[in-house]
Amino acid sequence: MSIPTPTKEDHFSFGLWTINWTGGDQFGSPTRKPFDPVYVLEKLAEYGAWGITFHDDDLIPFGSSDAERTRIIERFKKGLADTGIVCEMVTTNTFSHPVFKDGGFTANDRRARRFGLRKVLRNVDLAAEMGATTFVMWGGREGAEYDWSKDYKAALDRYREGIDTVAGYIKTKGYNLRIALEPKPNEPRGDILLPTVGSGLAFIAQLENGDIVGLNPEIGHEQMACLNYTVSIAQALWSGKLFHIDLNGQKSIKYDQDLCFGHGDLMSAFGTVDLLENGFPGGGPRYDGPRHFDYKPSRTESEEEVWGTVKANMATYLMLKERAQAFRADPEVQEQLKLAKIPDLTETTLAAGETAESFMATPDDYDPDELGARDAGFVQLNQLALEHLLGAR
Ligand code: GCO
Ligand code: MN
Ligand code: MN
Repeated sequence: MSIPTPTKEDHFSFGLWTINWTGGDQFGSPTRKPFDPVYVLEKLAEYGAWGITFHDDDLIPFGSSDAERTRIIERFKKGLADTGIVCEMVTTNTFSHPVFKDGGFTANDRRARRFGLRKVLRNVDLAAEMGATTFVMWGGREGAEYDWSKDYKAALDRYREGIDTVAGYIKTKGYNLRIALEPKPNEPRGDILLPTVGSGLAFIAQLENGDIVGLNPEIGHEQMACLNYTVSIAQALWSGKLFHIDLNGQKSIKYDQDLCFGHGDLMSAFGTVDLLENGFPGGGPRYDGPRHFDYKPSRTESEEEVWGTVKANMATYLMLKERAQAFRADPEVQEQLKLAKIPDLTETTLAAGETAESFMATPDDYDPDELGARDAGFVQLNQLALEHLLGAR
């Protein structure tokens, strides 16, 4: 297999903050300088990417005057028009400035919450102006280190109030925008509210304006919680809430590594691409949103090599897509899927017209020991997947 070249039809998009991450961490200073945002657009277009996403502060430095803000926005909009890159998602930085040290929507200090809400609502207007269709909300500072420092019930009430207010504002303004909440278990807070996709789904169900609120699950975040991303996005899809995705790589439960896509758990990445590209084996809801990368070019890499990492993300995705299509098309795989009774799972457990009562009145004559002894065929199925992944088939 040759290394595939991406095109706009692949709908790959990148966070401005990912490419412009300068490599500063808790132990060391930056190893690179950020690029001019318009140059980023030009390079993304050159490499076949389709979209860009950004936090307000990635583009417009915090505290910029109104005049400076307008100048930056107009210049960036011209860059979008010149390159054909789409601004598909906008998000708000409610975590860097010290005012957000205890959260944007759930800070104990009401003044910090009002400051956060104002920053987010202003950014909703910018998202609409940019033509974005998704508004991601990652509450990295919404949480605590100490159980006594937060009234968790009140914090969830305020979180709901905040999200409902933003969603209500989007509706009132008539913007073509949907909110995508991004779960994460920890980092920077010791414990973040909405730690996983499951918590996010349960939270959305409590919202008044939950119809335009869904999720933006990130590979590394689910894996930091020891969960399999493919399972998590499957439930988000099933719930009609997979609005956006953050693809990257993570090796087990540690700090958020933000490696290139596929550079962590490759087998799980293969499962993810198979689901995204080919859907559930028995049909059902499909993801048709952007293939968005939220990674960090490792701080060991030079400024020039940042573009090497951009290409790596897209190439890996396309290689896995090609492998996943070959996997599904392989007659041996089809046979093994049948042996493993994968298609049978789409059949309802009760027959049409059967009720719990009639079911109980007519016992089946299956022998549980025989059923228990039956080979499920899952390991061979997984081996077939691995052989396709490694290009042996
Ligand atoms: C992180 C998050 C962020 C968000 C971003 C968009 O762990 O830092 O993944 O990168 O995705 O803030 O809201
Ligand atoms: Mn992350
Ligand atoms: Mn993310």
